[in-house]
Amino acid sequence: MVDLKGKDILRADQFTRDEVELIIKTAQKFEDSLNKGRMLDNCRGLILATLFFEPSTRTRLSFETAMLRLGGQVITVADPQSSSVSKGESLHDTIKTVENYADVIVLRHPKIGAAAEAAAATERPVINAGDGAGQHPTQSLLDVYTILKEKGTIDGLTIACVGDLKYGRTVHSLAELLSLYKVRLIFVSPISLRMPAELINKLKEKGVPTEETEDLKEALKKSDVLYMTRIQKERFEDQTEYERLKGVYILTRSVLKDAKKEIIIMHPLPRVNEIATDVDSYEGAAYFRQVANGVPVRMALLALVTGRI
Ligand code: NCD
Repeated sequence: MVDLKGKDILRADQFTRDEVELIIKTAQKFEDSLNKGRMLDNCRGLILATLFFEPSTRTRLSFETAMLRLGGQVITVADPQSSSVSKGESLHDTIKTVENYADVIVLRHPKIGAAAEAAAATERPVINAGDGAGQHPTQSLLDVYTILKEKGTIDGLTIACVGDLKYGRTVHSLAELLSLYKVRLIFVSPISLRMPAELINKLKEKGVPTEETEDLKEALKKSDVLYMTRIQKERFEDQTEYERLKGVYILTRSVLKDAKKEIIIMHPLPRVNEIATDVDSYEGAAYFRQVANGVPVRMALLALVTGRI
């Protein structure tokens, strides 16, 4: 029996396919309840702490919405300047404090490995909502959920990840999660923003067919899913390098002329300029539907790790 009770959610590669399927099945059930307007009380009496030491709109608000929809309650630090972190408190001590208030902790932090560090400090389940340029496993779960809803399957698809593959944590986690399926992955980026070599090697070892290219148009012709990402401005030491790269891939209606007819366009958001607004009305533009999927998927995660399923 797959059971996530008491587990931390730290990286996409921690999951077995059975665990991913359980999360998806649970999310489908919650989505169905939401659509029927049912009130749920799985997490009644439980408190979620959301600690966000980097900016966020969707991830924090969808986790909080998910907990409220499950009948639980939420406490939050959305701005590190307003917490004792600004006085120099260590992450360890912040977590040792918050564990006294909350039953489950969602953390976003600028440092790679911060969520694992937090998890080591507490018995409470810790969920990684993004650790610097590292991982963003809950985004990938909702991405996989979105692909399944939009395409009906994941096995057999060719999926292109485009943009900042070096610093983009969503694509790191997504590639790892997709390696549980029979997919082909195309990585489209400028040379200086390629997927980390260790990740490419890991995918190859698992037998996932991968291709790296700078050519978006070529990738488009072969892809069933186009996963666009933002160039991660805040990770660049040299801002002139960011300025040079920020317009490197811009998806417009006219670029999409070469695409497969049934292609879907995804993006974790926020977008800056990499998808023109004229794409929003394209049938395959799935990025706002993808946002909506964050709520049932995060409801599933909260209910599963708290054992309130
Ligand atoms: C992403 C993130 O924070 O990594 N946003 C999100 O969680 N939906 C993507 C990004 O900031 O570019």
